Amino acid sequence: MASTAEGMKSLLEDRVVKSKWPARLDLAQSLSGLGLGLFMWTHLILVSSILFGKDAMLAITHVMEASFLTPDEAGGYTLIPALTAVGVFGLFIVHACLAMRKFPSDWKAHKTFRSQMAMMNHSDTNGWYTQVVTGFIMFFLGSVHLYIMATQADKIGPQLSADRMWTYGMWPLYLILLFAVEMHGAIGMYRLAIKWGVFDGKDPRATRKRLKVLKTLVTVFFLSLGLASLAAYVKIGIENVENNRVGERYVAGQEG
Ligand code: HEM
Repeated sequence: MASTAEGMKSLLEDRVVKSKWPARLDLAQSLSGLGLGLFMWTHLILVSSILFGKDAMLAITHVMEASFLTPDEAGGYTLIPALTAVGVFGLFIVHACLAMRKFPSDWKAHKTFRSQMAMMNHSDTNGWYTQVVTGFIMFFLGSVHLYIMATQADKIGPQLSADRMWTYGMWPLYLILLFAVEMHGAIGMYRLAIKWGVFDGKDPRATRKRLKVLKTLVTVFFLSLGLASLAAYVKIGIENVENNRVGERYVAGQEG
């Protein structure tokens, strides 16, 4: 009897120990995070084209819509940004579901985690908590933005985007989302580098210090770029109201 029970126990332990699923899910979380992080940095660089003027942003919009493939150069395939938004939304949901596995499961677990975090005051542990909070914010605000991008992809452009920011009141959402995304993305990329030891080299401790500095620089760079772009869209949005231009599509060369 005893040996049957022991046999069952070791069989169960074998199954638990040999399961590759936790490692697979971890890898999937890292890869989806890497994809989203790279997407977000690229996305902000494209959105910041407004800092070079309306024509620059219009040119980027046209490239994103592959308008060079259409006989009529002015309009492209808005289905491309719409489908991209749907794809990013999918990846976003998968990444959030995978991340939820590691959240404190109830209020008691959350309190224990918070008190241990305060006791340790370790920057990487604090960073993990920042990711939980910013991830939570992004789940709500990012979903609103992605839904709008998927359903109104034909209304992206220097003037229409500015109208969405100012006249249609999206700027407060973008402002909060910008801080959440940039903090979440930079901490996430830093954690990925540490976790998989990609830049470890001969002295992992020195690498960790350098990566921390890089993380801060990247956050400051993208936050500054985002804030400057947000201000540029808001300025155009206000001008559109003043000049009775709300809802008007920008035509290439109109500005200069
Ligand atoms: C394919 C998917 C996406 C597309 C096509 C897209 C497109 C755009 C566009 C055109 C703008 C300019 C404002 C506007 O037109 O409303 C913008 C701004 C912004 N987007 Fe996205 N976006 C996408 C995904 C995301 C995701 C996943 C996030 C974060 C969760 C995000 C965060 C932001 C933020 C924070 C801003 C304001 C940037 C600033 O400060 O200037 N976007 N996006």
